[in-house]
Amino acid sequence: MTKLIPLLRVYFAALAYCARIFTIGCLSRADRTGMKLICDLAGKRIRPAEQLLPEVGIDDLVPMARHIRMEKADCNQNGGLGLFDLFVIDTLCDFFRPRRIFEFGTFQGRTTLNLAANSPEDAKIFTLDLPREKIEAAQFAVLDGENAFVQNLEAPRLFAGTPYAGKVVQLFGDSSTFDYSPYLNSMDFIFIDASHSYEAVLNDSRRALEMLRGGHGVIVWDDYDAWYEGLTNAVGLLYRTEPAFRGAKKIRGTSFAYLQL
Ligand SMILES: C[S@@+](CC[C@H](N)C(=O)[O-])C[C@H]1O[C@@H](n2cnc3c(N)ncnc32)[C@H](O)[C@@H]1O
Repeated sequence: MTKLIPLLRVYFAALAYCARIFTIGCLSRADRTGMKLICDLAGKRIRPAEQLLPEVGIDDLVPMARHIRMEKADCNQNGGLGLFDLFVIDTLCDFFRPRRIFEFGTFQGRTTLNLAANSPEDAKIFTLDLPREKIEAAQFAVLDGENAFVQNLEAPRLFAGTPYAGKVVQLFGDSSTFDYSPYLNSMDFIFIDASHSYEAVLNDSRRALEMLRGGHGVIVWDDYDAWYEGLTNAVGLLYRTEPAFRGAKKIRGTSFAYLQL
């Protein structure tokens, strides 16, 4: 009996979770991740889109131990990075010591804050976000399920009020129509995590390439895990057809695609 009660509690908690994720949970990114984990646990790696990129481990990219700062690690909301992904992007940022960073898609600003905390003191982080007020005017429709991540203009961001706030420049606009001319040929590290639609990812990736300083630097895409079919297919198309993207890889155990030029 003493063993049965804890088991029943686990049983009903799991049942309630499954009831949610297989109904209304389909609309939530976290719950879709739950479905994916169930498939993975069952040994069935089902993915709606084919992942073409070869895999690489973070240990191969960054061979030595680093001292990184993980900021607001306990503040994740649905829409932000998981802990391992946060660790990996902090590690890459610390390793490459980028002086100018561009992020597509700010959301709560948790990754922005982490990029600021792990870059050199004089680095600048430019982070572009679509304000909720402009959602209808976006060139490529915001995907169902992504609406919830779009904040209003006044939303407080997690970097505000921190010692790193002065390193961050918040930009507002639609990434597909934004004027990138002041940022061209000047960035060392770029994180693509705005709209996940096929067309928007193609646009953001090509703009990212134009923004790299002298064509050199690092581009990281979030959500290259085949659940965002459009994003995964867009990165795959660039990899297959545009020589500049030919070196892209998936970082093992993360949702990141990665390109070092
Ligand atoms: C998944 S969240 C970004 C998460 C954030 N990078 C992080 O790591 O915490 C996606 C963000 O992209 C923004 N976004 C969506 N469509 C956009 C567009 N067309 N242009 C610019 N930002 C967009 C949303 O407002 C939202 O803040």
